Amino acid sequence: MEYIADENRYKKMEYRRCGNSGLMLPAVSLGLWHNFGHIDNQENARSILRLAFDEGITHFDLANNYGPPPGSAEENFGKIFKEDFIKYRDELIISTKAGWGMWPGPYGDFGSKKYLVASLDQSLKRMGLDYVDIFYHHRPDPQTPLEETMTALDLIVRQGKALYVGISSYQPDETEKAIKILRELGTPCLIHQPKYSMFERWVENGLMDVLTKEKVGCIPFSPLAQGLLSNKYLQGIPEGSRAASHRGNGAIEENQITEANISRVRLLNELAKERGQNLAQMALAWILKNPAVTSVLIGVSKPEQVTDSIQCIKNYQFSADELYRIETILK
Ligand SMILES: NC(=O)c1ccc[n+]([C@@H]2O[C@H](COP(=O)([O-])OP(=O)(O)OC[C@H]3O[C@@H](n4cnc5c(N)ncnc54)[C@H](OP(=O)(O)O)[C@@H]3O)[C@@H](O)[C@H]2O)c1
Repeated sequence: MEYIADENRYKKMEYRRCGNSGLMLPAVSLGLWHNFGHIDNQENARSILRLAFDEGITHFDLANNYGPPPGSAEENFGKIFKEDFIKYRDELIISTKAGWGMWPGPYGDFGSKKYLVASLDQSLKRMGLDYVDIFYHHRPDPQTPLEETMTALDLIVRQGKALYVGISSYQPDETEKAIKILRELGTPCLIHQPKYSMFERWVENGLMDVLTKEKVGCIPFSPLAQGLLSNKYLQGIPEGSRAASHRGNGAIEENQITEANISRVRLLNELAKERGQNLAQMALAWILKNPAVTSVLIGVSKPEQVTDSIQCIKNYQFSADELYRIETILK
């Protein structure tokens, strides 16, 4: 059946300015790292994307290597995009990335101009797009000069293959340098995509300060620590969950569901209930309370998780007492 988006979608979501750019992003964005590969159910994938857009989620985040197999999330997104979303292209922010290993040999990994330019061409073909809205360098490359990687991002924008560029998982000092080079080239750095959750706090040691000072946006990934920060694993490891699925490629494994983690999750879950939220909603709200954050980048395995998680925007205010209790639990 033809997909017609909910006409009330923009009333349901909050939109935040990305750094000092002209671009607004939804407070909650959707990532396609898992659950959109060839191994996954495509009608489920379609339902997730339709529901997300109906809820005002205008930003879908991909990367060259998402799947499995690598490339298949872009391919599947491309099919669904063509059937359901092509008429909404100008209402969508679609991002992709290159930086992790994608094809054999010396030109399919890290941060050379050769890799980034070729990879984006492949991504555009897989998705059936003329351009992406945001193109990221996916991780820092210790060997390639930063000037070369940033020049590649600038080139890609000048070629019209991306509108904006970003970086992911760069440390604070590398971030500062990358921002400076990009500014000199005339292609400002739009956004940084770091891993950030209650269980992963590295961004608080300098990165957020750099982004605030430089007025660059921030879109934290894995805000639920891949599902650990929800009530999902409180009674063991459910069948079909990410930890039970052995998806590889950095996906959470059973041995990360430790008693130490679960005992903290149990206490956080109690606090969330007192706030009138579930733990997933509180964990996302805890990210959104930070004014340096533009959007929180979620993953979902089913449409109901979209409905559930986006409730986080209803309350991301925390009292001093709540914040103190969270810090005590996380210690
Ligand atoms: N830049 C990078 O290097 C990088 C790296 C990783 C990810 N990312 C991006 O960030 C996105 C999100 O990462 P992520 O998938 O790890 O995020 P996440 O939100 O931390 O974890 C998603 C998982 O949490 C569970 N979940 C989601 N909503 C839930 C809810 N309401 N209640 C209970 N459980 C819930 C689901 O697990 P089940 O599958 O078990 O149901 C879901 O698959 C990715 O898709 C990708 O776009 C970027």
